[in-house]
Amino acid sequence: MAFRHFLTLQDLSKQELQQLLKRAIELKTAHKNGTAKQPFSGKVLAMIFEKSSTRTRVSFEAGMAQLGGSALFLSPNDTQLGRGESVEDSARVISRMVDIIMIRTFGHDKIEKFAEYSSVPVINALTDDYHPCQLLADMQTYIEHRGSIKGKRVVWFGDGNNMCQSYMNAADMLDFELIIACPEGFEPCSNLLEKFSDRVSIERDPVAAVSGADLVVTDTWASMGQEEEKQLREKAFSGFQVNEDIMSLAAKDALFMHCLPAYRGLEISETIMESTWSVVWDEAENRLHAQKALVEFLLKA
Ligand code: CP
Ligand code: NVA
Repeated sequence: MAFRHFLTLQDLSKQELQQLLKRAIELKTAHKNGTAKQPFSGKVLAMIFEKSSTRTRVSFEAGMAQLGGSALFLSPNDTQLGRGESVEDSARVISRMVDIIMIRTFGHDKIEKFAEYSSVPVINALTDDYHPCQLLADMQTYIEHRGSIKGKRVVWFGDGNNMCQSYMNAADMLDFELIIACPEGFEPCSNLLEKFSDRVSIERDPVAAVSGADLVVTDTWASMGQEEEKQLREKAFSGFQVNEDIMSLAAKDALFMHCLPAYRGLEISETIMESTWSVVWDEAENRLHAQKALVEFLLKA
């Protein structure tokens, strides 16, 4: 049987991505109206978490329950994956017992290998390189507040990390301009910069970067797995905080997003999340609706 994986945003066609975002908004409305259906009775999602999570775990688990199915939390501490059973063997065994699998791990190569050996769809719930589920929620949020993101100026502040690289994929697929304001040495992967050079650029000056921005996005300066570099990173990124001074240089109706968890006083000012620019709580909620649309898409494929 043919099935699809979702390891990066680019596993969807541009048209599929637009359709999925539309469906996420429909599912949100149905959920709020009390008219949502439960099409996936008996379907099971396995959730493999090798890193911590609040939003991803809660949204996938609640989402599966709302769709009529169930979710299974698996951590390396309690499974044989943590005791050295190979990715290939684990993928073959787990995928014979469940209908869909979500993985949060370190190396992107690990999820690619898991997907290669899985007999059911695999969803990337964050690797060191990409966080495509978050982009579904971010793009849904932008569309809900401002309409199409096509042709808009999006400014990424901070690390060229998994979120930044997912924004690069989104810029290509949804046709917006992406300016990355990062200090030297913290750029995203050079292959991606080259691939998307028609719409993605680096700007070292935060003030020049943010001028006229329609959407400003940032993330923690030290991602999961980089805890030991925290101090070094705080120093390197100190000029790249998103605060009221920076946001007031953006376009008049600019939005601010952060995938969370956020560290006030570091990558953002103490109060920016509570400002009128911020849509971070809608963004977090939309993880639920966007991933329900994703699960529906993958289970129906
Ligand atoms: N944004 C996000 O993925 O949050 P969690 O790490 O809490 O899942
Ligand atoms: N870049 C962050 C995102 C957390 C949701 C990390 O990988 O830790």
